[in-house]
Amino acid sequence: MRVPELGKPGLQTPDFRLRRPQASDALAMHRVAEATQALDVNSTYAYLLWATDFADTSIVAEADGDLVGFITGHHPPPRPEALFVWQVAVSPAAQGRGLGSAMLDGLLARVLTERPGQAVTVEATVAPGNAQSRALFGGFARRHGVPLVEDEHFTADLLAADGGHEDEPIFRIGPITEPLN
Ligand SMILES: CC(C)(COP(=O)(O)OP(=O)(O)OC[C@H]1O[C@@H](n2cnc3c(N)ncnc32)[C@H](O)[C@@H]1OP(=O)(O)O)[C@@H](O)C(=O)NCCC(=O)NCCS
Repeated sequence: MRVPELGKPGLQTPDFRLRRPQASDALAMHRVAEATQALDVNSTYAYLLWATDFADTSIVAEADGDLVGFITGHHPPPRPEALFVWQVAVSPAAQGRGLGSAMLDGLLARVLTERPGQAVTVEATVAPGNAQSRALFGGFARRHGVPLVEDEHFTADLLAADGGHEDEPIFRIGPITEPLN
């Protein structure tokens, strides 16, 4: 199986193929988001937009032809140097094997390659209670040897009227100028 976009030798991802998303991935992206039981699940239409108009800043992972993970990202218009990672999702059966990390490294490597000479700061909002996600981005900052700065961003009251959502502080990780070898 091809592994064309792995970011770090030694990550345990021999069974996964990483690639840019396409329109026909949207239904499976929706299914994987739902399967995590941790993400706010967006409409299939939202995943379709990300798999097409935002394909350059997104990535999907396949195993045996099935989509098992994705990252949706974009360059926020007010901060074009940033790669804002909106959702990272790995199917429960594939979690804990380095796939989330490999997708992040692979996506960053592609963005750096396609914007030569431009440093990238990775941004993501992460709820304080999401230990997996905090570990994912903490490990990413360590591998790339750059600081991770956390600031208040979207507060719980903006996300749910009934208090049913945690705050979403923002991580800023970078600037990163080179992909991992
Ligand atoms: C968060 C998520 C994408 C991580 O993907 P993954 O493939 O399981 O992550 P990896 O195997 O690459 O591990 C990344 C780091 O998290 C750590 N980790 C993995 N599972 C963990 C867990 N259950 N609790 C705490 N840390 C964990 C790993 O040790 C690794 O840390 P390191 O780099 O310091 O070694 C995946 O767990 C997921 O889809 N979760 C549900 C959706 C979600 O919360 N997404 C993030 C918010 S958008």
